[in-house]
Amino acid sequence: MTPDLFDSDLTRQPICDGAVLLRGFVTPHTTEIFDAIATIENVAPFRHMITPGGFRMSVAMTNCGTYGWSSDRRGYRYASTDPLSEKNWPAMPALFLELAQSAAEQAGFVDFKPDSCLINRYEIGSRLSLHQDKNERDFSAPIVSVSLGISALFLFGREQRNIRPLRLPLSHGDVVVWGGPARLYYHGIAPLKIDTHPLTGTHRINLTFRKVD
Ligand code: SIN
Ligand code: FE2
Repeated sequence: MTPDLFDSDLTRQPICDGAVLLRGFVTPHTTEIFDAIATIENVAPFRHMITPGGFRMSVAMTNCGTYGWSSDRRGYRYASTDPLSEKNWPAMPALFLELAQSAAEQAGFVDFKPDSCLINRYEIGSRLSLHQDKNERDFSAPIVSVSLGISALFLFGREQRNIRPLRLPLSHGDVVVWGGPARLYYHGIAPLKIDTHPLTGTHRINLTFRKVD
């Protein structure tokens, strides 16, 4: 991939119009990010949600922020409370907000105000099939996605599911931002290959920041 001539920083890799990969963007903040995740999962533990079709998701999930994503037999939805505790989701840590905002800005989206952060935990063999993020109210806000731990192959398609997706390897610290013309592009994660990372063992953690409301 050829970085923009405009970019002096080669860690910023354009994917397509509206989507950018920021290599290693959060790596300097790894320790604080893992501390924050530990605090969140103490209150709102990772759980394997059941899809509306009745399948247990291979990815375990929790949330922080005003809204969290849940699914069960009744459907998918954003809600302000954790169905396990019936309490509000843990607040979004200030550091998360700052990192998400500065990543969005690097990608050309100013004034991103996420009110939701999904925290996905993948194990070896976990995958996320191609989908669109389309349950948010305002598609002018981008999605900011942070990869931690073992590597994954990110599948980044187009507006129709049947268009063959790009395959982008993502490593610890990488951030992908997509919005504007790419906001509703299909995306997913290929089944995770055997790997280990010193901080997460055999897991990959993904944070996705969204503006839901
Ligand atoms: C997502 O699409 O919500 C997560 C993508 C990822 O795990 O990188
Ligand atoms: Fe998604």
